[in-house]
Amino acid sequence: MLSTEVSPAPPSVSESAESFPEQPQDHLDQPTARVVELYEGDAKTTLAILEDNFVDCVVTSPPYYGQRDYGEEGQIGLEEKPSEYITRLVGVFDEVKRVLKPGGSLWVNIGDTYWSGKGQARQIDEKRGFSRFLRPQDKKGKDSWCVPKQLLLLPHRFAIAMQENGWIVRGDNVWRKQAPFPDPARDRCAIVHEYIFHFVLMRRYYFNMQAVAVPSHGKRSTKPPASVWDVTTASTKKNHTAVFPRELVRLPILATCPKDGVLLDPFCGSATALSVALNENNARKAIGIDISPASIAEAHELLSSLPNTTINYTKSGSSKKLS
Ligand SMILES: C[S@@+](CC[C@H](N)C(=O)[O-])C[C@H]1O[C@@H](n2cnc3c(N)ncnc32)[C@H](O)[C@@H]1O
Repeated sequence: MLSTEVSPAPPSVSESAESFPEQPQDHLDQPTARVVELYEGDAKTTLAILEDNFVDCVVTSPPYYGQRDYGEEGQIGLEEKPSEYITRLVGVFDEVKRVLKPGGSLWVNIGDTYWSGKGQARQIDEKRGFSRFLRPQDKKGKDSWCVPKQLLLLPHRFAIAMQENGWIVRGDNVWRKQAPFPDPARDRCAIVHEYIFHFVLMRRYYFNMQAVAVPSHGKRSTKPPASVWDVTTASTKKNHTAVFPRELVRLPILATCPKDGVLLDPFCGSATALSVALNENNARKAIGIDISPASIAEAHELLSSLPNTTINYTKSGSSKKLS
């Protein structure tokens, strides 16, 4: 059974709100009960059953193109053409657009890949130390840019497709990986970064600059955080191999998930973003969706240690809450 109720959380320090309309106020003088909704199923079809306009902040990392076979029917990331991958992702974020409040924010961490065209690797993958499955980028290319050695530029192709679909791109923040996996490249620079795009839907949106500003020696005592984030890759003993470092999601959550707000991760994996939102920013509610039962089980394990938190679990296609 995926349900948990544990002891009350300690009261949290309340924070002065900025003057943004329609945002929830802090009610944290009393310990507040927290709720997690975990959905096991496809992101797009599961999002379709959620109501309109109630999520404050979305922080997510969709499956990267051709990186992993999660072994689930309907998984994203193994499309034959990279263009199909982009189209599917944009389709998921169309549903996100509907559930997000107009003043909400969407943050997407996404990595890039090279076309290889070399066929299935016969030996161990030098980079990751395991025998690789036949990835789409190992086959003969079907899109014009799919030629061997080509960096596909998927993060920016995705961001442009999102722009064309009505999103406002506020930033292409760079995650500069501290202690990254060694890159075996012999004829190019080693890749040590990924992107975290910040998307919004309107000109004025909720952004708590006070929560994320950094000290400044100029006229003002603080300044906005920089767009390059030095964060160490997550080391984990968990089964999930593509876990968010907690530090990476902290800034997006502190800046754009109001205390007492609602956070969503439609590709939640082991629930790092949900846990940071509930535990470190006192979100009222966190919603996680993942197609993999193993990920949902890991998510439940992490979240069940949070105090004063009720976890509801729903399997996709079933309207019955299994709590
Ligand atoms: C990069 S991982 C997310 C890791 C997560 N940020 C964490 O900290 O653990 C991507 C996740 O997307 C899930 N996934 C793949 N296809 C999906 C789909 N169609 N709908 C929902 N989840 C999907 C995978 O099972 C995987 O857990």
